[in-house]
Amino acid sequence: MSTTLIASNRGPVSFTLSDDGALTMRRGGGGLVSGLSEVVRDGDVLWVCAALSDGDRGAVRLAPGGRLDQAFDTGPVRMLDIPPAVFHRAYNAVANSTLWFVNHLLYNTPLTPEFGTRFRREWESYRDYNGAFAFALAEEAGHGARVMVQDYHLTLTPAMLRVERPDLRIAHFSHTPWAPPEYFSLLPDDVVAEVLTGILGADHAGFLTARWARAFMDCCETFLGAHVDHTAGVVSYDDRTTHIGVHPLGVNGEALRRRAAEPDVESHMAAIRDLVGDRKLIVRIDRTELSKNIVRGLTAYREFLARHPEWHGRVVHLAFAYPSRHDLPEYREYTAAVQRCAKEIEDEYATEDWDPLILNVHDDYPRSLAAYRMADVLLVNPIRDGMNLVAKEGPILSPRCALVLSREAGAAAELGPDALLVNPFDVTGTAGALYEALTMPEEERLKRGARLREAATALPPLRWFEDQLAALG
Ligand code: F6P
Repeated sequence: MSTTLIASNRGPVSFTLSDDGALTMRRGGGGLVSGLSEVVRDGDVLWVCAALSDGDRGAVRLAPGGRLDQAFDTGPVRMLDIPPAVFHRAYNAVANSTLWFVNHLLYNTPLTPEFGTRFRREWESYRDYNGAFAFALAEEAGHGARVMVQDYHLTLTPAMLRVERPDLRIAHFSHTPWAPPEYFSLLPDDVVAEVLTGILGADHAGFLTARWARAFMDCCETFLGAHVDHTAGVVSYDDRTTHIGVHPLGVNGEALRRRAAEPDVESHMAAIRDLVGDRKLIVRIDRTELSKNIVRGLTAYREFLARHPEWHGRVVHLAFAYPSRHDLPEYREYTAAVQRCAKEIEDEYATEDWDPLILNVHDDYPRSLAAYRMADVLLVNPIRDGMNLVAKEGPILSPRCALVLSREAGAAAELGPDALLVNPFDVTGTAGALYEALTMPEEERLKRGARLREAATALPPLRWFEDQLAALG
């Protein structure tokens, strides 16, 4: 029986299954996982997560009761083998195509969304998937244990778990933005109510910024008629109260710098230097995710080149756009749009001895660390983002890097004063910010860089987690 538990869709490890049936274990990816991995390394915390692939399911079959630590060197992890069809509907259709779209304002409303019978079946699966987590957590948690439920995949679990185990202290944390009521009202009323009351099943609901916390409280007021004390951050509904907290996740600067000083990163730096020479570098590092706004970022670079011929041959845009969620057609189309736009820039501007744009489409962590270290400008221009840790990692690894940052990223709340803030839809404004960043005097870069670094490391993962445990009581 555990005294502290974490529940999230993606776990700290994932497995791939080769043709000969051999399993290979890898550390999991993404902001949530890297933050929490640091937390569990230092403590005795059980992590409950879902099997995401055939490789993961193969691993669960070798682990008694899904406890991976009984069969692999993982630390305490229980992986849930949810039937693939249920998982697919819960993860792809509801979590990633509905809740993610609502909270990141991604719908193209003349065509989507549409909530008919198909959606109802998907919603049923989302309930089952959340129920599977609640059931496993109820089984694993010791009396009075603290359970930290993560993200939009698991909005219903807190209320379900409370019914099973009223003795537990339950927290929910949203790693995404939260949409204002006008946009949240796109969802069917009963779904909205279920999501909100699901999270209100927790004693503490955490958000990355005050803006997202406010939007959640506004939704509780608007849709449930809940009593909300905005100043104290308390929502009262149905004879229960939920405390709302703001916990802006930061980066462990020391660990990141240590990793970025390793020889594999150094050799990537040498390889990049060979490619770009002494030209200035504009870097971006993203998953090819609709909310990351990569196409407008590339278009802004193109507009910058059109307006500033004096920079031709003197700058290279190193863009990392790793594959993401390719089960969804929107993501496959978006990846193609990114590649089309990159090719157009190449066709228009490349010369025999100058590649204006290098697009990296393979996930290569040491190479991206090398790019951070060499960046003169870091471009982070999401349509909307819960936090965006790229904006925090860059300044830690490059003291003289100027940051062009979307005002819609959660990170803007802390980094805004020292970044060049842009409206993510304003391509011309973003092109102007790229120019300003490239021509920023050295002294100012260093001054801003030092303050960015301080803000980025203000709340490293371990303290971020401890703050939430303390808030939970
Ligand atoms: O932004 C919230 C978050 O949980 C990230 O931490 C993570 O990268 C993403 O959403 C989920 O991605 P995936 O579907 O690849 O697990």
